[in-house]
Amino acid sequence: MTKSLDKIVSLAKRRGFVFSGSEIYGGLHGFYDYGPLGVELKNNLKALWWKWMTKDHDNIVGIDGAIITNPKVWEASGHLKSFVDPLVECKKCHHRFKADDIPGDKCSDCGGELTAPKVFNILVPTELGVIEGEKLKAYLRGEACQTIYLNYKNVLNSTRLKIPFGICQIGKAFRNEVTPGNFLFRQREFEQWDLQWFCHPSEMEKWFEFWKEERMNWYKSIFTHSENLGFYKHEKLAHYAKKAFDINYEASPVGKEMEGIHWRGDWDLAGHSKFSGVDLNYTDPETKENYMPNIVETSGGVDRTFMFLLVDAYEEEGDRVILKLNPKLAPYKAAVFPLLANKPQLVEKAKALYDNLKNDMSIAWDDRGNIGKRYYSQDEIGTPYCITIDFDTLENDTVTVRDRDTATQQRVAISELTAFLRAGINL
Ligand code: GAP
Repeated sequence: MTKSLDKIVSLAKRRGFVFSGSEIYGGLHGFYDYGPLGVELKNNLKALWWKWMTKDHDNIVGIDGAIITNPKVWEASGHLKSFVDPLVECKKCHHRFKADDIPGDKCSDCGGELTAPKVFNILVPTELGVIEGEKLKAYLRGEACQTIYLNYKNVLNSTRLKIPFGICQIGKAFRNEVTPGNFLFRQREFEQWDLQWFCHPSEMEKWFEFWKEERMNWYKSIFTHSENLGFYKHEKLAHYAKKAFDINYEASPVGKEMEGIHWRGDWDLAGHSKFSGVDLNYTDPETKENYMPNIVETSGGVDRTFMFLLVDAYEEEGDRVILKLNPKLAPYKAAVFPLLANKPQLVEKAKALYDNLKNDMSIAWDDRGNIGKRYYSQDEIGTPYCITIDFDTLENDTVTVRDRDTATQQRVAISELTAFLRAGINL
């Protein structure tokens, strides 16, 4: 069953995951801000990706490159020429559409006649410098990966890496999307997580297949309903790719693409070699073979993954909303409650436990309303465990731990609580 995006958007705003950008000014199409819970979830997600990509693979390192580069980069990468969408404009209401989105030759808003398609570059331009007439036209990066290619020799020269190896990066990208929309799916400012894998040309097939499977396995490890993940093979390819597959979230109420696995070959390094005049060939230290490394790219959308995770986790049971997020990603790992907020002994004991647990993991505190309402509130934001301090706690130092997904409760000794939570969350 496909879930309603409206409900997810409403939950995201109500509970502080995601807000529309510049909301008090009526918003700005294609821009969003992450709220207090959203930034926690997004940071957890990026930390998992970073650990798995860099720490768990000996031959992958990370960089954090600048958003603005020398504008020649976008000439060499082919984006100035080929990063385009064909647009048509209505001669009557002047609304613009992607030519691919309009089936006939009439405006879908007013029925007016459409112009012939005109090519529109989706790089976002900016200007550098202060003197009118001498400003340098530059671009906000249209894809995060270019700084990896620019630094590939710097990385090689400053580490002991040898081919095959990878460089990864998480960072913002900007596109003048013609039709931004569908919440976080198509934005004008968004974040990508990329791996660029440098290998010998004769090993491209092997590594392409390897990364395709490896990345799918990673997504399977973070989604609750991993059966909703699938591959899509591209027939129409981007200017830099010889072969491309997407990892899709198939049960999405809007678009499905989450990450692209691209056979970039020597497109980028050969282009930058030519335009910069710098030799970017690699010499094998053992065989002395000199060649242009080929590249397999895995490039995913952090915001799209975030949105698909909310869709995937969202459940309703009667009037209760439960966000069945992977516990590792949940903004709070547990919430601590005193059974009654007006009993100082319970509050004091609960506060001491809260202060102790939060040294180790992200913990929420709640002493408002009744226990039922507190459970409801924590379920809605995906907190895996709720811990209640009651009168028995004062007697025997045990607490009630309630599980988000099953709503079952059990008594756990305070002395064993950290180990219990760590095991449940798989920390
Ligand atoms: N470096 C290759 C590259 O940028 P892409 O398929 O254009 O490839 C990679 O983008 C990923 O970035 C996509 O799979 C998607 O998850 C995300 N992405 C692309 N455009 C986006 C947009 N306008 N809003 C949000 N995410 C986007």
